[in-house]
Amino acid sequence: MESTRSRLAQRLAEAGQSHLVQFWDELTPEQQAEMTSDLEAMDFQEINKFFRSAMEVSRSSKQEKMDARMEPVPREVLGSVTRDRDCIKDWEEKGLRCISQSRVAVLLLAGGQGTRLGVSYPKGMYDVGLPSHKTLFHIQAERILRLQQLAEQRHGAKCYIPWYIMTSGRTMESTKTFFSRHSYFGLCKDNVIFFQQGMLPAMDYNGKIILESKNKLAMAPDGNGGLYRALGTQGIVEDMDRRGVKFIHVYCVDNILVKVADPAFVGFCVQKGGDCGAKVVEKTNPTEAVGVVCKVDGRYQVVEYSEITLATAEKRSADGRLMFNAGNVANHFFTLAFLRDIVQMFEPQLQHHVAQKKISYVDTQGRLIKPDKPNGIKMEKFVFDIFQFAKAFVVYEVLREDEFSALKNADSQDGKDTPTTVKHALMSLHHRWVLNAAGHFIDENGTRVPAIPSLKDGTDLPIKCEISPLVSYGGEGLEELVSGREFRPTLVIDESGAHELVKNGL
Ligand code: UD1
Repeated sequence: MESTRSRLAQRLAEAGQSHLVQFWDELTPEQQAEMTSDLEAMDFQEINKFFRSAMEVSRSSKQEKMDARMEPVPREVLGSVTRDRDCIKDWEEKGLRCISQSRVAVLLLAGGQGTRLGVSYPKGMYDVGLPSHKTLFHIQAERILRLQQLAEQRHGAKCYIPWYIMTSGRTMESTKTFFSRHSYFGLCKDNVIFFQQGMLPAMDYNGKIILESKNKLAMAPDGNGGLYRALGTQGIVEDMDRRGVKFIHVYCVDNILVKVADPAFVGFCVQKGGDCGAKVVEKTNPTEAVGVVCKVDGRYQVVEYSEITLATAEKRSADGRLMFNAGNVANHFFTLAFLRDIVQMFEPQLQHHVAQKKISYVDTQGRLIKPDKPNGIKMEKFVFDIFQFAKAFVVYEVLREDEFSALKNADSQDGKDTPTTVKHALMSLHHRWVLNAAGHFIDENGTRVPAIPSLKDGTDLPIKCEISPLVSYGGEGLEELVSGREFRPTLVIDESGAHELVKNGL
């Protein structure tokens, strides 16, 4: 024990992190044992190296804006659901075939802490208040189930879509328990694979690791790009290989409209021979805070809004659209071969990004301090940082109202990306599906509601309508349930048919 302690003390001293054990003598034997095992597991030299290079990159990127080095995505790598409408059926067909051969996996990034939403549990467990009260995880699981069914129906072969779920130290246990309590939402347990990304300590501006209490380091997940290290350390690439997976759709937990394993996106990427692809929506407002997919120094990258000047963000092409308009919706396609190269060769080259944060800490007297301005950094890798290594990068543009509405913030007046806005986005999409399938809505007086809703009391409330993913993945299969019928909202369509809910508590 004594020798473990002195070895540890020496390692800490060599790394300039001896302050971490400054309260050692005040800790209980249990706390000492726990802290020893936490510290033993850490590679301080590596952490110090990450800190130095992240700060270096952050300093140099502050000095020079990207503007002069940026080019928009060229048309030849771009597919669009609006401009290439004729091709969609083919792409969808191709994607469904790959799915039917069990070659497509989905990978969910769910290691974030949901800080902005302000919940203490994983965001995927959030109930946004739909009539069914399904959570984000539940909706995604049912889309996978339905897609498996569609692929089987089309190609007559039993298939499955493995679902890899990346969690972090903060979200692993609660996520796993939630899935088990809900019997994996009807999916086969063996095809839902949880794995855990790494954590890194928060550091002050001098490279000292921050203590959040006398016996605990301030730790945070290492960003959604922590994926690539985790894929290697957790044996996920081998697992995919063993299952015969060839293509992977990676996405973020917060988009309520996400088309998991979207056959059209997968089919497009495969048809174009892409090894790496990004789904985007058109950015129409120059100040919208989304990253844009573009080229920098000839290599593909996502550039955050804060990294360019307003003049560049406002630049327009001859057709009047923003020149940098490929808004990143955090839906990516990778071939397994590409991911393997990343894990085996390129991962160490990925730089951590620096996020300045207010991090609670204990001072030298052991008092807990909650700073009111940033006092340190968190280091994160980003999932899209590997675009630069693609040999054949492709971009797929979809309609925002059909595919992208993310839950980021708690409800507030005029809030953006809140439980209310995402709920409305889903109901509005399902409303349009019903109209497309020749169904109609009527109001309390029995009058047909116009297809384009008018603004009521200044608020743009959607028709209350929810369609179970088990009935329809992307609007298909609804005619026999709704064609020629009139419905009074709230309309719910599930496996037992179309129902009007009498109680209107939304
Ligand atoms: C992300 C994108 C941004 C895009 C936006 C669209 C990144 C780095 N940025 O931004 O370009 O415009 O989505 O909604 O992808 N996560 C982890 N581990 C972590 C941190 C996050 O798994 O350590 C997961 C979260 O659970 C979430 C996703 O990554 O599913 C996105 O994380 P978040 O921090 O919310 O990214 P945004 O800043 O919203």
